[in-house]
Amino acid sequence: MSTVLQARELTRHYEVSQGFLQPSAQVKALNGVSFALQTGKTLAVVGESGCGKSTLARQLTLIEVPTSGSLLLDGQDAASADKATLKAMRSKVQMVFQNPYASLNPRQKIGMQLAEPILINTSLSAKEREQRVQQMMQKVGLRPEHYYRYPHMFSGGQRQRIAIARAMMLNPKIVIADEPTSALDVSIQAQVLNLFMDLQEEFNTAYVFISHNLSVVEHVADDLLVMYLGRAVEVGTKKTVYKQPLHPYTQALLSATPSIHPERRHIKIKIEGELPSPLHPPSGCAFHKRCPYAVERCQREEPQLRELAQRQVACHQVEEINR
Ligand SMILES: Nc1ncnc2c1ncn2[C@@H]1O[C@H](COP(=O)(O)OP(=O)(O)OP(=O)(O)O)[C@@H](O)[C@H]1O
Ligand code: SF4
Ligand SMILES: [Mg+2]
Repeated sequence: MSTVLQARELTRHYEVSQGFLQPSAQVKALNGVSFALQTGKTLAVVGESGCGKSTLARQLTLIEVPTSGSLLLDGQDAASADKATLKAMRSKVQMVFQNPYASLNPRQKIGMQLAEPILINTSLSAKEREQRVQQMMQKVGLRPEHYYRYPHMFSGGQRQRIAIARAMMLNPKIVIADEPTSALDVSIQAQVLNLFMDLQEEFNTAYVFISHNLSVVEHVADDLLVMYLGRAVEVGTKKTVYKQPLHPYTQALLSATPSIHPERRHIKIKIEGELPSPLHPPSGCAFHKRCPYAVERCQREEPQLRELAQRQVACHQVEEINR
């Protein structure tokens, strides 16, 4: 197994204006997330709305420059890469978004849109490009005549297939999929998830699969990274974490997902209240205001990730809670 993407302490803070004559404030959207993604495997990133998943995605696709931390893609450090290297690195990571319609050009035929990445990045002839596009269209379950159609002529599921085809056109090493099935009907979701998995098997692509839905993730993930307010709170293989979640937040997420492991439903943790604002994050453990196990130490001291029972978990009380 080889590591294709390594993130170390990735951090992204945004400066936001607080109004006229006010000092600007910092939104701490991402606060030191580390992980290693293996070739051909899927890392699922889960957490509530606003916890920093899309911010993480934007750092991984090299769209944004992180505030601090490092990113090694195929062994190459993004921070020290020159312009040409960065361009080559960017083409190795592609993105699939939640809303495929927004990411397609409504006035351009699908075939042209799918050919664009190869037009820009290769010297293939027009005929060869069309062949490559038709091959990929077939792989994602589109018909040859779809080449000449416009985005509005497709269903939501078909549009997501088009977006996936476009992401795959340059045979990327990594695809970052940000809630790729959340906008689709439940009946279509499974088909699109299966497509992701078939393509992964054929091309050995690694995925970072972002979702707030743990039952979606259960189908696709090899590894799991649970995020809370810009930090990883539990990281491990999907099997380990689903079988026995140790962090109270992971336990709460899983107990709110009824279809998963009914035998573990006795862990009934309800998370009360809202995710705190990353403009004013709580002191100590960011989860302490909502955690039923919080003790005084949790308000003062931020728990670091540490190895425990074949995964990493960031909680002062983890042994006591899971005794
Ligand atoms: N460009 C930006 N400027 C200021 N704040 C931002 C910016 N982008 C994101 N944020 C803030 O950072 C936090 C994390 O946002 P992000 O979009 O990464 O969350 P998310 O986990 O993807 O949420 P969702 O599940 O709703 O998509 C939010 O509080 C958001 O408002
Ligand atoms: S560190 Fe404290 S507040 Fe945070 S999850 Fe653990 S018990 Fe709860
Ligand atoms: Mg998001």
